Amino acid sequence: MKRLLALTAAAFISLPLTPAVAQHGQPGAPGVGDPYFPEQGNGGYDTGHYDLSLDYDPSSNRLAGVTRISARATQSLSRLDLDLVSSLSVRSVTVNGRLASFAQSGSELVITPRSGLSAGRDFSVEVRYDGRPAHVVDPDGSVDGWIRTSDGVFNANEPQGAMTWYPGNHHMTDKATYRFTVTVPSTRVAVANGDLVSKVSKGDRTTYVWDSREPMASYLATVSIGKFQLLDTKVGNFRVITAVDPKLADGAKGFAERHAPVLDYFSSVFGPYPFSSTGGIVDHAPEVGYALETQTRPIYPTVPSESLLAHELAHQWFGDSVTPTLWRDIWLNEGFATYAEWLWIDKIGTRSLQTSFDTAYAPEADDEFWQTPTADPGGPANLFHDPVYDRGAMTLHVLRREVGDDAFFTILRTWAAEHKYGNADTAAFIALSERVSGKQLDALFDAWLFQPGKPSL
Ligand code: ARG
Ligand code: ZN
Repeated sequence: MKRLLALTAAAFISLPLTPAVAQHGQPGAPGVGDPYFPEQGNGGYDTGHYDLSLDYDPSSNRLAGVTRISARATQSLSRLDLDLVSSLSVRSVTVNGRLASFAQSGSELVITPRSGLSAGRDFSVEVRYDGRPAHVVDPDGSVDGWIRTSDGVFNANEPQGAMTWYPGNHHMTDKATYRFTVTVPSTRVAVANGDLVSKVSKGDRTTYVWDSREPMASYLATVSIGKFQLLDTKVGNFRVITAVDPKLADGAKGFAERHAPVLDYFSSVFGPYPFSSTGGIVDHAPEVGYALETQTRPIYPTVPSESLLAHELAHQWFGDSVTPTLWRDIWLNEGFATYAEWLWIDKIGTRSLQTSFDTAYAPEADDEFWQTPTADPGGPANLFHDPVYDRGAMTLHVLRREVGDDAFFTILRTWAAEHKYGNADTAAFIALSERVSGKQLDALFDAWLFQPGKPSL
């Protein structure tokens, strides 16, 4: 049966190759089976590194890309998928340097190598593609992906935008390191995650190379382009790289310097900052309406307030370094970042932690707010609903009250350390909390995470 499926795929070949008759292995699954986004990611292999070359012209929105992926087969594969919208045209695919046949359908790029890949073996894929990328509209009506601005691109990819600009294994359980080589007109700047390695101009075009050496989930990748003022500086212990839209330059004075105190404080509370550099992208994009914790370098649609800055920087520990296993565990990102925001504005004296908690707890018991349980907001349209943030943060505060400060902060630090650069789910957090505190916490977590309704205090 499986063999038959593999042969059927060969019928879609878009290159005149000899059909793969003696193909060994089985097709990799077209998704990892996340109930919120069933087609995200793919089965049968694990990526280790992405080398992305992008050539972009902001005025025509023309993108030409080459994606080189190093991966390892986790089963024997006759065929594998990458995720890429089919409005971008794939021109060629090679596997281990040899031309492979391919077909694009929906957001799947289906690749049939000349010969099957054995389980456990490393392999490389190279995809050449081009087109005019566009953003996607998410189930909640917001946009993500390749979002054009007046001078370039606001590139934010949570939860599903990565497939709008490069082919990959786009589920957060498959993290990889990245290198970005981005060529843009010299009037523009291209900013990505990690460290700026080089900037070379030739004629009227400039190529920026960025290295992201720590593993990253693809929804946290960014290549944002604009007439940015780029600053690469050292503030305290941190290499801070900021890119600021000149339209927002006045409000962004001192933006780089603002990072160090927040990161120093969070390092003392959550453990060492997990990445080699930090910073942020401030890109005037009022139509976007949200910021995103793009790894090492969050992107903001306007100059962030102190609480928003703290929120996105806290995500570097909770979300970026420790990433959920499934989208329904999103409170592990948003609840934690919201609680960290409360901690920071309490620390700087803007608002007490108790006031933040009381304000979040204020809705009446019959309020719609309490109908969404924290641990599974019920579907992709509710990923970023208020309860994910505020009820998530309240859950942590109630946990802290129950186990005491010492145990609570040990839980947070252990969570960040044990799952550094990995993925973890709600059950693992509950187990850790019980292990560290030595307490039975089922009733607390059941009321705060799993049951609808307003928990009593
Ligand atoms: N994780 C982001 C934050 O809390 C929100 C991303 C929202 N994305 C979206 N497509 N609406 O800061
Ligand atoms: Zn957040």
